[in-house]
Amino acid sequence: MNIFRVIAEDIQAVKDRDPAAQNSFVIWLTYPGLHARWSHVIEHWLWNHGLRSLARISSQFTRFMTGVEIHPAARIGRRFFIDHAMGVIIGETTIIGDDCTLYQGVTLGGTGKETGKRHPTLGNNVLVGVGASVLGNITIGDNAKVGGGAVVVSDVPPNSTAVGIPGRVVVRDGQRVEIEKQAAAQHKENLPDLVGEKCEGLGERIAELEAEMMQLRALLSVNEQELEFTASED
Ligand SMILES: CC(C)(COP(=O)(O)OP(=O)(O)OC[C@H]1O[C@@H](n2cnc3c(N)ncnc32)[C@H](O)[C@@H]1OP(=O)(O)O)[C@@H](O)C(=O)NCCC(=O)NCCS
Repeated sequence: MNIFRVIAEDIQAVKDRDPAAQNSFVIWLTYPGLHARWSHVIEHWLWNHGLRSLARISSQFTRFMTGVEIHPAARIGRRFFIDHAMGVIIGETTIIGDDCTLYQGVTLGGTGKETGKRHPTLGNNVLVGVGASVLGNITIGDNAKVGGGAVVVSDVPPNSTAVGIPGRVVVRDGQRVEIEKQAAAQHKENLPDLVGEKCEGLGERIAELEAEMMQLRALLSVNEQELEFTASED
């Protein structure tokens, strides 16, 4: 990968995606997300050419300077942009497609339970919002968006938006997805409890029968008293 072409493309990506962007020189100088990305290009090259310790040392220095920690082994596509940088972690087995954007505080990490490929794969043109965590060996499809603050632990289909904790798809192919139906399908407590409903019905019937029995008993005792009264008069 030609580093000068990468720099030119990335600066253009910032112009396209950041309304606050100024001229190329200022962008080149003042975007720590770009500095971290360009360092990673070199560190990835070092990693792939057997200079792994040097790559790791360099990536830690980059982290110190930019607040962005990208493992040198992570694979990152073209026109990658981390807006505002700071607090961004990209794990070792992460794969990121072309034209992706991350905001500050994003973690592309593992769940701590997996080994081998344990970090996410992002398709092309994926956006991950501020403070979001995308965890595990999951796939975020092309053109998908992850809302700020979300914690996504399962695949997100292409052309979708996932928000919340745990991340749920709320928009797919431009159409709203009904969250309530999804939640009902995902949570056992919302499934119909047929046995419970039957028991509830039986309980109500028993209460009705008890009430009727009390009335009958009351009637009987009145009739007995009347009988005793008539017998004593005779
Ligand atoms: C998710 C996001 C990308 C919008 O995607 P979208 O496909 O246009 O989705 P919509 O705006 O149509 O929102 C769909 C639903 O999700 C909700 N939603 C949007 N973002 C959300 C978030 N981060 N967390 C929780 N819910 C969110 C909306 O309120 C809406 O719900 P409603 O219809 O019940 O009101 C955007 O809201 C977001 O979070 N962007 C991150 C930007 C960022 O990090 N900026 C930092 C700048 S410093």
